[in-house]
Amino acid sequence: MAASAAAARRVVALLVILVLLALAGASSAQQLSTGFYSYSCPGVYGAVKSVVESAIAKEKRMGASIVRLFFHDCFVQGCDASLLLDDTSSFQGEKMATPNNGSVRGFEVIDAIKSAVEKLCPGVVSCADILAIAARDSVVTLGGPNWDVKVGRRDSTTASFSGANNNIPPPSSGLANLTSLFAAQGLSQKDMVALSGAHTIGQARCTNFRAHIYNDTDIDGGFASTRQSGCPSTSGQGDNNLAPLDLQTPTVFENNYYKNLLAKKGLLHSDQELFNGGATDAQVQSYVSSQSAFFADFVTGMVKMGDVTPLTGSAGQIRKNCRRIN
Ligand code: HEM
Ligand SMILES: *[C@@H]1O[C@H](CO)[C@@H](O)[C@H](O)[C@H]1NC(C)=O
Ligand SMILES: *[C@@H]1O[C@H](CO)[C@@H](O)[C@H](O)[C@H]1NC(C)=O
Ligand SMILES: *[C@@H]1O[C@H](CO)[C@@H](O)[C@H](O)[C@H]1NC(C)=O
Repeated sequence: MAASAAAARRVVALLVILVLLALAGASSAQQLSTGFYSYSCPGVYGAVKSVVESAIAKEKRMGASIVRLFFHDCFVQGCDASLLLDDTSSFQGEKMATPNNGSVRGFEVIDAIKSAVEKLCPGVVSCADILAIAARDSVVTLGGPNWDVKVGRRDSTTASFSGANNNIPPPSSGLANLTSLFAAQGLSQKDMVALSGAHTIGQARCTNFRAHIYNDTDIDGGFASTRQSGCPSTSGQGDNNLAPLDLQTPTVFENNYYKNLLAKKGLLHSDQELFNGGATDAQVQSYVSSQSAFFADFVTGMVKMGDVTPLTGSAGQIRKNCRRIN
């Protein structure tokens, strides 16, 4: 008996040690914090905000474009600014991958932020953190919620063309595929529905909503014909014609996106999938009833998305120019 009690104590002690090691591992994998630049570059927030605000004052859509850059960066090898790297004759980046080619925009604004920040504190702030802060400032400038951005990310020296093609969901996705592509990044279905609310701002090209407005049945008839008038059914014709993701207020960040879904006026097939008789209907309903519930879950989702496998410590680098490695 005494021997087995001692053995049991050893097992318990071992388990305690394993749990402590696991906790230590988890905390060292997540070194982002809101205070990372408190001493090294406290001015970064003012600098980012002022460039973002003037870019949006010049063109309202730019806020949406910047938010999307953050999403497309984080879904490919984590939030590491891999998306910002330009292609060269010897380097294939992510900009030409299907979800990005002819579609992602705002790189000049990120360049302008980077040069303002480099003047202030040379070599300190990563391009990956600039994306995270600029995305938050864009949401706030367009009327959305505010939150403290966790920082301390470093920039990649690599990019993944195939990752951009495989990880970022296409607008043809059904609910199950949307859910699994977010799950692959450690994001829940609830996060997916809340983060999709970013489609309350910005524009989409005809090529991305053509099939939905001509062939889907889960769409309001009047809305479909309005959108058809700006988007020919023939593939290749008018592919780049734009329509607002939120037909009511595409430059204001509120819960209208979900109201549109209730009225079967989602622009993308993937949008309407969130309210189509499935498991996420109730969540969409709840955001229609409560904008503050949407805002709270959107913030939770953005913080979680910003935590996707960052480079920290001495990994990667602080790029001098966001478009190329040092
Ligand atoms: C749930 C899966 C998602 C799909 C299938 C999807 C798909 C798309 C597509 C096809 C466009 C239009 C691109 C074009 O036609 O050029 C778009 C635009 C946009 N997306 Fe998403 N998206 C998703 C999630 C998100 C998330 C999580 C965010 C940010 C948190 C986001 C932010 C945006 C914004 C702001 C725009 C407008 C960009 C602009 O006007 O420049 N999207 N999305
Ligand atoms: C990117 O888009 C351009 C213009 O539509 C096209 O010519 C090019 O082939 C595309 N690149 C890739 C890699 O698909
Ligand atoms: C959804 O996922 C299935 C299984 O992985 C795949 O076969 C299908 O092509 C995907 N559909 C879309 C629209 O992404
Ligand atoms: C609609 O579906 C039909 C039959 O599958 C297809 O031939 C046609 O190209 C589709 N049209 C659009 C605009 O997607």
